[in-house]
Amino acid sequence: MILVTGGAGFIGSNFVLDWLAHCDEPVVNLDKLTYAGNLANLHSVADNPSHIFVRGDIGDSGLVNGLLAQHRPRAIINFAAESHVDRSIHGPSDFIQTNIVCTFNLLESVRAYHAGLDEQGKLALRFLHVSTDEVYGSLGKQDPAFNERNQYAPNSPYSASKAASDHLVRAYHHTYGLPVLTTNCSNNYGPYHFPEKLIPLVIRNALAGKSLPVYGDGQQIRDWLYVVDHCRAIRAVLDAGRPGETYNVGGNNEKRNIEVVRTICALLDAYAPKASGSYADQIEFVKDRPGHDVRYAIDATKIQAELGWFPQESFDSGIDKTVRWYLDNQQWVEQVADGSYREWIDSNYKERQ
Ligand code: NAD
Ligand code: DAU
Repeated sequence: MILVTGGAGFIGSNFVLDWLAHCDEPVVNLDKLTYAGNLANLHSVADNPSHIFVRGDIGDSGLVNGLLAQHRPRAIINFAAESHVDRSIHGPSDFIQTNIVCTFNLLESVRAYHAGLDEQGKLALRFLHVSTDEVYGSLGKQDPAFNERNQYAPNSPYSASKAASDHLVRAYHHTYGLPVLTTNCSNNYGPYHFPEKLIPLVIRNALAGKSLPVYGDGQQIRDWLYVVDHCRAIRAVLDAGRPGETYNVGGNNEKRNIEVVRTICALLDAYAPKASGSYADQIEFVKDRPGHDVRYAIDATKIQAELGWFPQESFDSGIDKTVRWYLDNQQWVEQVADGSYREWIDSNYKERQ
């Protein structure tokens, strides 16, 4: 039995589906169902007895202590977080609460659970914390990619809150001997990606005939990883990662934002052509994100050498699959786009006109 937190969000739900497809081991899925959590992502496993969904907060110690005592998981995988940089700029408070305070509460619960295990149970237990490359800050165009020894230099309230949680996780290993693992991953994309993030937002806006907002000059670089490759990396780290270690995970796919947007437009031109013109005609350069990090890039040598993990998807194949998934699942997108999501979109982009 494993306990996954945030398993109704984008990466968490992909992980749960991937886990149930590959592993004969039940999952307890604890998710608060914030605006980003969506049980429709888990529709295909709704009747699977190996998937036990619990709605709740990782910061609710009573609930988490009860789940640990009842299910006795051999691993806890923590995806639960506030994850959108723009939202953290508009309102950092939820990020401090969830990513720092609630992660601390979760660590306390797991520490107590670990202390109560017999020696064999203690040796087997793992707490895997899913983090981001953004904790390392921003790279210049010529800088080497981030490795696990880079200094932390987070620039947004989101990345600062994730950095704080990484430090707490590290401290619980060094101080209390908690068998933790941390993964720092680059930008994911793929099915069930919430349409506030660049790739799904561009697909949705393009099909709706709306403008495709590119922040600043569109020259910022991200290292894109297909979400299923990330799920495989987490399984590899859980299986054979060394407690106390961190592992960088990346796709070897550095792309400028404008290049990503143009690629999506070209795919849509091929799969869902407009009556006239190209979707690229809808591109609009808008006011930049404050403190916008210029470039992220991951050096994944450690996970490749130690655990034999390599991404299987190229950007070309992954983005093609992703665009087709969104074309085939437009109902999912529209169901996600409820009132609160639209209010957020209106306020974010009004300021960029
Ligand atoms: P997401 O926003 O899509 O999903 C987050 C999930 O966590 C949601 O289901 C939400 O309901 C749940 N949640 C939020 N607060 C909670 C709480 N207090 N208790 C329980 N559940 C709560 O995020 P995502 O993009 O799937 O990211 C998952 C994790 O991976 C995050 O920790 C994020 O920092 C990290 N990460 C994301 C990316 C990326 O590109 N998306 C890259 C690297 C790392
Ligand atoms: O690097 C990993 C991180 O990737 C994760 O930790 C975060 O949880 C995840 O949200 C993502 O952060 P980014 O800020 O890189 O992702 P986002 O999709 O918001 O933006 C990608 C790039 O596109 C970024 O340079 C900002 C730009 N952008 C974004 C939006 C939403 C635009 O140009 N226009 C937009 O409308």
